[in-house]
Amino acid sequence: MTREPDGRASRADRRTHNYRTTPGPPVALGQEASDTGLGGFSLLTLEKLSKTYRGSKVRAVSDLDLEVRAGEIFGFLGPNGAGKTTTIKMIVGLFKPDHGRITVDGVDALDRPLEAKARIGFAPDTPELYDKLTGREYLSFIADVFEVPPTERNRRAGQILEIFELKGALDDVIQSYSHGMKQKLAVTGALLHRPPLLVLDEPMTGLDPKAQHAFKDYMRKHCDEGKAVFFSTHILEVAERLCDRIGIINKGRLVAVGTMAELRQMAAGESTLESIFLELTQE
Ligand SMILES: Nc1ncnc2c1ncn2[C@@H]1O[C@H](COP(=O)(O)OP(=O)(O)OP(=O)(O)O)[C@@H](O)[C@H]1O
Ligand SMILES: [Mg+2]
Repeated sequence: MTREPDGRASRADRRTHNYRTTPGPPVALGQEASDTGLGGFSLLTLEKLSKTYRGSKVRAVSDLDLEVRAGEIFGFLGPNGAGKTTTIKMIVGLFKPDHGRITVDGVDALDRPLEAKARIGFAPDTPELYDKLTGREYLSFIADVFEVPPTERNRRAGQILEIFELKGALDDVIQSYSHGMKQKLAVTGALLHRPPLLVLDEPMTGLDPKAQHAFKDYMRKHCDEGKAVFFSTHILEVAERLCDRIGIINKGRLVAVGTMAELRQMAAGESTLESIFLELTQE
């Protein structure tokens, strides 16, 4: 595999990887669902996505256009209340947008929600799991829901639990887990069905440094197989070092999107993501 200077797989390599193991949407391999012309087919497309909460006068998300391509780790940044979680909840089908379209791996998520959800692995910012279940029971339940073959479950879960060092707690009830342990379990569950698109709301919060390091490696491997990750974060250093592209949302509107180099140009040559972020989100 060819690699870019920062160690990422080259775009050409990411494009040629084929993650599909299950019958996909009506898209032939190599004939992309939506060839962006920018390298890699689109695993997530948001078009004019908008949402206003009932009783609110302002749009939480407004006319959001965004694309995440195969092979890409996409970081979604923005100040508190900018609209990140609202966007994520619309992508994964927890909220209905007022307007707009969401396409996941070629599937219209509003017309064919179950098919779209089968292609997404989602972990929320504050996982609300089933307190009375053990970790093992929870994973078994999730594997049932996503129809993961019994012979595959242990192997897939084992790999991730190893990374997270959570194996020893699997037979404890979830209510005895710390916040970070719940997050690890939620992420493990989200990965079990090998989804092409991972959607994670602030996944690093609560993970200890070792788990963060291991998970960043995991994300990169996931994308090197031609899959993609879309995640929100406030940790700018992680975004800067890990993401292929970054989108910055402010007051519901996408104010910038691009690679670090492209963002630098947009922000008058500012050099760090922190200074770019501050410039693009200032009042
Ligand atoms: N359930 C809700 N009901 C009404 N308004 C909401 C609800 N959830 C969020 N909002 C509003 O929508 C806007 C966007 O919130 P959202 O949670 O999407 O922000 P965020 O970017 O995820 O912020 P944070 O970084 O704090 O997690 C905010 O103005 C917030 O007050
Ligand atoms: Mg949020």
